[in-house]
Amino acid sequence: MNETLERWQSRRAFILAVTGAAVGLGNIWRFPYMTGENGGAAFLLLYVVFVALLGLPMMMAEIMIGRAGRRSPMQALAFLADEAGVSPLWRWLGLFGAMTTFFILSFYSVVSGWSIEYLVGAVNGDFVGRSAPQIGSGFEAFLLDPLRMTFNHTLFMLLTMSVVAAGINSGLEKLNNVMMPLLYLILLVLGGYAVTTAGFGEAMHWLFTPDLAAIDLTVVLNAMGHAFFTLAVGACALMAYGAYMPDDQSLPRAVFAVALLDIAVALLSGIAIFSVVFSHGLDPTEGPGLMFVTLPVAFSGLPGGQLWLGAFFLLLLVATWTSSINLAEPMVAMLVGRGWRRGRAATLIGALVWLVGLLSVLSFSSLKDVHWFVGMNFFALVTTVPPDIFLPIGGLLIAIFAVWRMPKEAAISALGVSPGRFVIWRTLVRYVSIPLTAIVLLSSLI
Ligand code: TRP
Repeated sequence: MNETLERWQSRRAFILAVTGAAVGLGNIWRFPYMTGENGGAAFLLLYVVFVALLGLPMMMAEIMIGRAGRRSPMQALAFLADEAGVSPLWRWLGLFGAMTTFFILSFYSVVSGWSIEYLVGAVNGDFVGRSAPQIGSGFEAFLLDPLRMTFNHTLFMLLTMSVVAAGINSGLEKLNNVMMPLLYLILLVLGGYAVTTAGFGEAMHWLFTPDLAAIDLTVVLNAMGHAFFTLAVGACALMAYGAYMPDDQSLPRAVFAVALLDIAVALLSGIAIFSVVFSHGLDPTEGPGLMFVTLPVAFSGLPGGQLWLGAFFLLLLVATWTSSINLAEPMVAMLVGRGWRRGRAATLIGALVWLVGLLSVLSFSSLKDVHWFVGMNFFALVTTVPPDIFLPIGGLLIAIFAVWRMPKEAAISALGVSPGRFVIWRTLVRYVSIPLTAIVLLSSLI
């Protein structure tokens, strides 16, 4: 397959696309509940350390490979491996990434469907005058209704796949431009409101005073996985976006901007959600339902609350939409690279992901107690193993390819940095990012 000639229309478009991929459920839904389940500040601390030491350098490696290969991930890897005279087996890394995004997308769509349900609920005024326990039991009832959940999941899959089928370079760029800043604005308003609540002090303590004794191997592994997940690194999905990156853009600078924004969004969301949790005596270890219970409660205390709540879920939906498009893109690009028509590829992938997503839907009702692996039902399994195990493995292999297999000159030019800075980056990846990821992965396997 020949080099792709498509390019992002501007530097800004690339940054927005990567931000769109990075900012999503990971920041607003997963970060708060993982922090809640993993001991609070200790998890946050580890996550930030992992973003700096592994996430950022590996993100550069991944996008750099895409930019140097200028093809879909599998083909880019095959092409670069051939050029460098190393094993052609590297191409299978692209397939491994596609499998990872497949499973992640299958639950991502289901949870994004919950946002659709809550958007409609807010518009209908369903949460007006309701107490925290009532809102909590409303969420439980929703989980027990597979038909409603399937409906929303289907809707979300259709939204995602219609954009992927059309090609990602056009309409979405513009949507992104307007919607993402609005989402940040609403989060800022929520953060401002959080400061005025009774639970704010406790939330800040919970988030920023690490209890180092709370750190065990599971917490370390979860924090590492989350760093990969939230930055969208480790599944060759950003590699696909790197292929369209203009020649004259500095990759490290773009990546830093995205990572800072990503952490900022997670923090704001965490502060807002935990302030409400502690103000209303809710349980921080509530798990995946955390956001869907706390936010309606929070907004019911704000003037014009339902409007804000509706706007919040609408914008969250856009954020998850841009992320799910990124998740779907490499699988579709892989088939397109093999001569499929884009529309057909998107339909097939969409249908398969949808089908597997049904297992997540049913994990809250009929399949609740069906354990697939060490006591986990399907939803628990699929929200744990692909993000926390597959992404780090993928990231590790991507990094190894970038610093031990690719010719130095090709890497320097695709990174867009000076030779001096390149050496700093390569040293960091070789002697910090790679060993650290390997150690955490190995020790948790044992
Ligand atoms: N980063 C996104 C989030 O935080 C999820 C995501 C998008 C992702 N693309 C990805 C995760 C690729 C892993 C790989 O919601």
